[in-house]
Amino acid sequence: MTVPLPGALSPTLAGIRLSIHVLAAAVWVGGQITLAGLVPTARGLGGGASRALAQAFARVQWPAYAALVATGIWNVSATHAGQGTAWQVVLGVKIAVVALTGLAALLHSHSSSRAGLAAWRAVSSLSSVTALVMGVFLAG
Ligand code: HEM
Repeated sequence: MTVPLPGALSPTLAGIRLSIHVLAAAVWVGGQITLAGLVPTARGLGGGASRALAQAFARVQWPAYAALVATGIWNVSATHAGQGTAWQVVLGVKIAVVALTGLAALLHSHSSSRAGLAAWRAVSSLSSVTALVMGVFLAG
């Protein structure tokens, strides 16, 4: 890991890597929170509007998840050298939480009951926020 000089800009490649990672995190995490806010209004419109909204979001959500995993692996290869045990533990837990948010989103999209939809959406949202916070701690 290179320690930046005080007041120095990030190297270009690191800036590109983190910008893509953070943009994809904004879509995956912020999108779920935004969708939760829009769904009650869409339900009120009837005609399957909330399902159509969820399907439209899925077309944006999954490419963002793929970008998070790809840039996450890039992050690890660029920053893991010389990191301490605490960093490695946080990374390991974060990877498990990332898998959980993806799995919960998948189960949410295949749920047919109201309870299943709500439960898996809550698990996916909470674990996505946890992954975001852990990422901020990893970046230091
Ligand atoms: C839901 C998925 C994910 C979210 C929401 C997420 C979010 C974030 C955020 C917000 C940061 C902080 C960026 C900054 O402050 O500059 C970060 C950093 C980081 N993430 Fe993720 N991330 C996800 C997936 C992954 C995956 C799958 C990996 C590893 C395979 C990973 C590894 C890392 C590493 C190592 C850093 C530190 C990068 C650095 O110090 O340059 N992330 N992540």
